[in-house]
Amino acid sequence: MKLVGLVGWRGMVGSVLLQRMQEEGDFAHIEPVFFSTSNAGGQAPSLAKNETTLQDANDIAALKKCDIIITCQGGDYTSEIFPQLRASGWDGYWIDAASTLRMNEDAIIVLDPVNSDVIKAGLARGIKNYIGGNCTVSCMLMGLGGLFKHDMVEWVNSMTYQAASGGGAQHMRELLTQFGQINASVKSLLDNPSSAILEIDRQVLAQQHAFTAEETKQFGVPLAGNLIPWIDKDLGDGSSKEEWKAGVETNKILGRGVGFEKAAIPVDGLCVRIGAMRCHSQALTIKLRQDVPLNEIEAIIAQSNPWAKVVENTREASMRELTPAAVTGGMIIPVGRLRKLQMGGEYLSAFTVGDQLLWGAAEPLRRMLRILVD
Ligand code: HSE
Repeated sequence: MKLVGLVGWRGMVGSVLLQRMQEEGDFAHIEPVFFSTSNAGGQAPSLAKNETTLQDANDIAALKKCDIIITCQGGDYTSEIFPQLRASGWDGYWIDAASTLRMNEDAIIVLDPVNSDVIKAGLARGIKNYIGGNCTVSCMLMGLGGLFKHDMVEWVNSMTYQAASGGGAQHMRELLTQFGQINASVKSLLDNPSSAILEIDRQVLAQQHAFTAEETKQFGVPLAGNLIPWIDKDLGDGSSKEEWKAGVETNKILGRGVGFEKAAIPVDGLCVRIGAMRCHSQALTIKLRQDVPLNEIEAIIAQSNPWAKVVENTREASMRELTPAAVTGGMIIPVGRLRKLQMGGEYLSAFTVGDQLLWGAAEPLRRMLRILVD
């Protein structure tokens, strides 16, 4: 059995990964070794088999013993440890949730229901680094991968509605704390049915403006009752790093663009943070290469993988099935609001929602692990 080192399994993405690995029986296929950056020598979780002590995640010699390392520890850990490990001669497989290595030539972005051909070709070429994609990109491709597979897409404009969890656990806590403080600031007015709504609104705004730097430490400005039309770094050309990732990562996952024979497909839009908990949503305008009938488009999406689900484009179905609250915690990626736009028969609208901790983070990693060990 392959010796698999697990790093960063206690954090938010790592916990979801462990949960999914248990649900899918992955531990029956591996010999796990649990690493820790802060508690080496402590007791490993009960999933451990032979090695029941936590190993030091900064100990290159201990890491080197693993055939495969799967890490959700974050980009700083990857930047620090990965080069040292490779420099020491380690030739194992590195599976990583962090973005650090994603665009490197010797790394494949993994999303096997969409790009198993790219993964297989990478394995055949001896590539050893398999990195999870940006959550918004992975969720979009899980929903709409069929259209790309059939080479039907000329370009995509994606406008995102990204949840607090994309920032991390502390960001989710900050959002909820703000919701609570806002509610508390108008509680007595809310309890009085005859209070004036404009007075409630005024007090909510006053509370949003009154948040201290500590109370907005994670997002920089209030997110509760608000939105933030910028995610990640400012690239200095009017776009954000999150928006850049949409284009480059989509194409790399699909095996298109730089280094590949097929030309890149432009994917661009604005990334916006909203006050949802852990589902990223996105509204898409897709320019098709041809005017294909809607029922054919729906069939292609529905058949592309077992998790993409077409939601009928009605008010009732959209409200019931196409929301973060409906999708959170599930593997299904619903795709709805499918219709031809007024611009012409080649212009398709779509709305899709995905749990950014599942398909957006943990799931592609554990599936890559299974590809390596099965
Ligand atoms: N960059 C994403 C976000 C996180 O901030 O929502 C997942 O890749």
